[in-house]
Amino acid sequence: MVTLTAEMKEVFAKNKIFAIATASKTGMPNVAPMATVQIVADDTIWIGDNYMVKTLANVKENPRMALYVWDPEKKRCFQFKGDVTVKTSGPDYEKIKAQIKAKGPHYPAKGLLIVKITEVFDCTPGSNAGKKIG
Ligand SMILES: Cc1cc2nc3c(=O)[nH]c(=O)nc-3n(C[C@H](O)[C@H](O)[C@H](O)COP(=O)(O)O)c2cc1C
Repeated sequence: MVTLTAEMKEVFAKNKIFAIATASKTGMPNVAPMATVQIVADDTIWIGDNYMVKTLANVKENPRMALYVWDPEKKRCFQFKGDVTVKTSGPDYEKIKAQIKAKGPHYPAKGLLIVKITEVFDCTPGSNAGKKIG
């Protein structure tokens, strides 16, 4: 299990739009912008599905994801990789649905992607770049 550090969470909080990377079973890469992205536990990120197409198809056939966070002021960058579970019912789904609908009732709130972080890498330019740190 990976535990996100306070610094990783601080850098995460500086980001508003996240580049969400997935791949199909055959390895075709995909990246999409997502805003409904939040840390809900020391090793878990939630992403709200409103309009996912390839992202959703990919995690259904290849349940892995990568994203990075970047703080331009502190010049710190972290890459997160994790295992994905899709929920379209149940208490966790209902919670994110309520959050999304509170932002705008027109949002479809189709589902919830639960990402269990399995690895963290440093992507800060410099000598530590690419090193596994979690
Ligand atoms: C700034 C921004 C934020 C977005 N946030 C989300 C989001 O949180 N959830 C979502 O499902 N779609 C979001 N979208 C829409 C998806 O990026 C869009 O539907 C995209 O086509 C999905 O790509 P895919 O087919 O690779 O999954 C956002 C788009 C932009 C431009």
